[in-house]
Amino acid sequence: MPGITIDGKQFEFKQGQMILEVANENDIEIPHYCYHPSLSIVASCRICLAEVWAPNPRNDGKLEPMPKLLPTCKTPAGDGQVVYTTSPKATANQKAVMEFYLNHHPIDCPICDQAGECTLQDYAYEYGRGQRRCDIEKITQSKKDVGNHVMLYGDRCIMCTLCVRFTSEITGTSELYIDGRDAGECIDVFPGKGINNELSADVIDLCPVGALLDKDFMFQQRVWLLQGSPSIDPITSSGDNITIEYNNETIYRIKPRTNMDINEYWITDEVRYGWKFVHDESRVTMPCVKGKQNSDESDNESVWEIANDTAVLGLQNASSIALLISPMISCEDAWLLGKVIRSIDADAVIGIGPVPVEGEDKTFPSGFVVRSEKAPNVRGVTRALGGNALSYDDWKKAAKKAGAVVVTGNYPKDWDTPSVKDSQFIVLIDTLANKLTERADVILPATTWAEKSGTFENCNNVLQLFEQAIRPIGASKSESQIAMDLQAKVDDSLSTTFNAATVRHRMADAGIQGMLDVETPKDTKRLESDMPLLEV
Ligand code: SF4
Ligand code: FES
Repeated sequence: MPGITIDGKQFEFKQGQMILEVANENDIEIPHYCYHPSLSIVASCRICLAEVWAPNPRNDGKLEPMPKLLPTCKTPAGDGQVVYTTSPKATANQKAVMEFYLNHHPIDCPICDQAGECTLQDYAYEYGRGQRRCDIEKITQSKKDVGNHVMLYGDRCIMCTLCVRFTSEITGTSELYIDGRDAGECIDVFPGKGINNELSADVIDLCPVGALLDKDFMFQQRVWLLQGSPSIDPITSSGDNITIEYNNETIYRIKPRTNMDINEYWITDEVRYGWKFVHDESRVTMPCVKGKQNSDESDNESVWEIANDTAVLGLQNASSIALLISPMISCEDAWLLGKVIRSIDADAVIGIGPVPVEGEDKTFPSGFVVRSEKAPNVRGVTRALGGNALSYDDWKKAAKKAGAVVVTGNYPKDWDTPSVKDSQFIVLIDTLANKLTERADVILPATTWAEKSGTFENCNNVLQLFEQAIRPIGASKSESQIAMDLQAKVDDSLSTTFNAATVRHRMADAGIQGMLDVETPKDTKRLESDMPLLEV
């Protein structure tokens, strides 16, 4: 394999790789703004320039310097090349480029949402000169609403054109363009055409500065207060990798997590903003037994005891049980619930809840697919139930004859709940209030995916883990924990705390295929807040 030396360290590379790509792969930092691995290379920002020496075949392969600094993002790595990114010439260029970018920049970091995760800010510290020499009037640009989710602060733009290339090369929608010339040029949208495609908010992540900001997140939190947990798209079958970012048990935003085999660098706006139901006012947060006032809501465990006792008694007294497993819950949830219900009624009728489908899959020019199936785990719950669960329509017919019905939901919005007979005993395990809440004999409040860990299987049968981000809201518990608590009542044993990894091993021992081959988050770095708050 050919080899290259960058800043004194030797690396092998594949033919066709650019110097910057080799550096990135080997954790050597070369500053860059306009380069992105999935977009065309324009080499316009000029901060990645480095001093390159290469063997000259016309001079016996003697190492000779290139006459000028070269853009490492657009210069192919060559065998025997020696690259200096910290030499006096390269450093002088970095300082000059930073000075140039900051000439017209408003330097309004204290009120800019990007502060703390801004490459202009970071590079100003690392590569800037630390003082302003130019006494000119700054060119100002007004801020502009350019889409449902995106706000443009033109003043802060450094014209890297990542956002423009994204809309032309990834989505093929070309809503953004460069308006004007020279120092006055600015990013803009075509008249009457906002950036409103299904991936529109990905330009916010791409923008290295605070020029494109998220309207939903704007002025909500300083980013250094946020913590992050790796997770998986909870509302469609894509299995897109995401990070849930939160502070003080409140979610503030969702960001894409890179997984080149699933979603590459992107997520849809639907997934990005689909977490709002977690903090919805209609969340069911306390267990409830019909006709019984919870005597002491401050003692959650005794309220749970009463609800679990009532649920188990009602199920044990029923002639037969029908269990509806939602495609919104995890594999572990589905398996444990199926297990406890079968331990009460070995012939229980088990079916899978309604699978919302909206239109058809949509494929963008880059190959990114927006999934029409709006449930994260149809295949996973089918696998966990041993592959013999009924469809929703068949289950509804069969469930009419059951003496008791257990329904799970966890849908992000109102859903098509089954109709039930007055004579049936109903246990509802759900997150949001719905038509069944009034009718249910026992309501057991369930956590959303953000408040638990588990496994989802996406539309391509990839099983992936998601981690718990925030603590359960109110007295809610994961469906897995609810199932384990009910099982303890049935067996008259002590309940244990749910552990997703342990349950997956038990599932594998019980013959459920694939449960030990689930994919763990590729980027395991957990985002920790770097500014703990002090009590004063
Ligand atoms: S708005 Fe952001 S991403 Fe777009 S060109 Fe300006 S700096 Fe680059
Ligand atoms: S990253 Fe190389 S010129 Fe912009």
